Amino acid sequence: MAEDRERWGSRSSFIFAAVGAAIGLGNVWRFPYITYQNGGGAFLIPYFIALITAGIPLMILEYAVGLKTQGAPPVALKKIWKKAEWIGWFAILIVFVLATYYATIMSWAVNYFYHSFTLAWGRTGPEINNFYNNILLGKSGSPGILGGIQWPVLAGLAITWILIYLALFKGVKTLGKIVYFTVGIPWLILIIMVIRGLTLPGAIDGLNFYLTPDFSVLLNPRVWLAAYGQIFFTLSLAMGTLIVYASYLPKDSDITANAFITSLANCGTSFFAGFAVFSTLGYLAQSMGVTVPEVTTSGLGLAFVTYPTAINLLPVASQLFGALFFLLLLTLGIDSAFSQVEPVVGSIADKWGFNKKWVLPSVCIFGFIVGIPFTTRGGFYWVDIVDHFIATYGLTLVGFLECIVIGYVFGASEIRGYINSVSDVRIGPWWDVFIKFITPIVLGVSFVMQLTKLIQRGYGGYPIWTAFTGIGLLIILLILSFVFSKRKGGNP
Ligand code: PHE
Repeated sequence: MAEDRERWGSRSSFIFAAVGAAIGLGNVWRFPYITYQNGGGAFLIPYFIALITAGIPLMILEYAVGLKTQGAPPVALKKIWKKAEWIGWFAILIVFVLATYYATIMSWAVNYFYHSFTLAWGRTGPEINNFYNNILLGKSGSPGILGGIQWPVLAGLAITWILIYLALFKGVKTLGKIVYFTVGIPWLILIIMVIRGLTLPGAIDGLNFYLTPDFSVLLNPRVWLAAYGQIFFTLSLAMGTLIVYASYLPKDSDITANAFITSLANCGTSFFAGFAVFSTLGYLAQSMGVTVPEVTTSGLGLAFVTYPTAINLLPVASQLFGALFFLLLLTLGIDSAFSQVEPVVGSIADKWGFNKKWVLPSVCIFGFIVGIPFTTRGGFYWVDIVDHFIATYGLTLVGFLECIVIGYVFGASEIRGYINSVSDVRIGPWWDVFIKFITPIVLGVSFVMQLTKLIQRGYGGYPIWTAFTGIGLLIILLILSFVFSKRKGGNP
């Protein structure tokens, strides 16, 4: 089977694909927002520690699993330990759900991009807010009321899924060429945005806000959880993506250097994107005569309301910068979106030996249909809720299980021997300590703490039944992963 397995065209194709998977919406809206919410410059300390203690060790682990087994997650984990196949399926189901709402956020960006040429999203902050909440999303007021479908959002969703299909249908070799563009273009745009941002009046206030550390936050456990959560999300860990991408590499490919390159490129991009965002927010604050914290809104609002407001205030070419910014989001996000679909397709194909030619369109159509509820008037809330449950609990659980299976059942030092036999940069026993103790402990503690908080307070001010729905969803995924793993495979 390994001989006729699909292959990347070159090592750099693989690296670009992995970097493209990592760099996504998470770098441009989530990272800056999480950073200022958690102590500004001081947040970079737990972020960096999370990168070293969990991000890089787990990335090395996932590359090693994919490379050694030459299989997508369920098959890969089964080869590591017969009883672990369901963990692979759990990761796959999680990344599938993630793909359905990630594509919805992409659809918002598609709509903004379309309207940016005429500035139809409005010129002032309140106008844009109105466009976002009332016109585009048509927010229903509560997650319990789905209301009708917002047709432009549905259209954007269809476009996103068609793009995903087009990028993947020719196989991994072609994908390996597309990613040069989907990584290169956003980098170029980002450089333009940073230069534009830094040369605006008031930029320095924004940067002060971004980079001035408030060290007292380091005593707050919430900040540490946020750092670990962000590292997982941004590096696309525990989602099957890296395992399946590594499985398309020849068996003797380097692991450790690739892991260092991907993770540093990703985190460097986040840090750099922070300069574009905060310098521009500084300008916005100065134009409005308020302080920077007063203009910063939470999460998605940053990319879809606050930042466009600032762009509209630009003295020249605001339309162009508006279009550029949404093109940035689209090109950043689209290769993350592919990377969420490929593991699903690869897993089904690997287990049952089906032809990808049929699996891919089926997964795309099914993903589109599952995503339809997110395009309703209540959809916004469900993007938020499902994201919380998938990204906070699903991810930590999968990461934890991977560490246990590799660390204890297979043996950390055995797999390290394999890693060192193929890699230029050798890793020492410190890696075993991370995989067996530090990473799973951190993930376990984080899981329990988040769950306790959830039980006490529910999530995000939504009615408590939404939290049960979120937990219910995870339980259903868990049951399905056992069902899938019990089914007979079609491949040897
Ligand atoms: N890392 C991507 C981002 O930051 C999201 C992602 C998660 C991509 C999981 C692939 C798999 O936007």
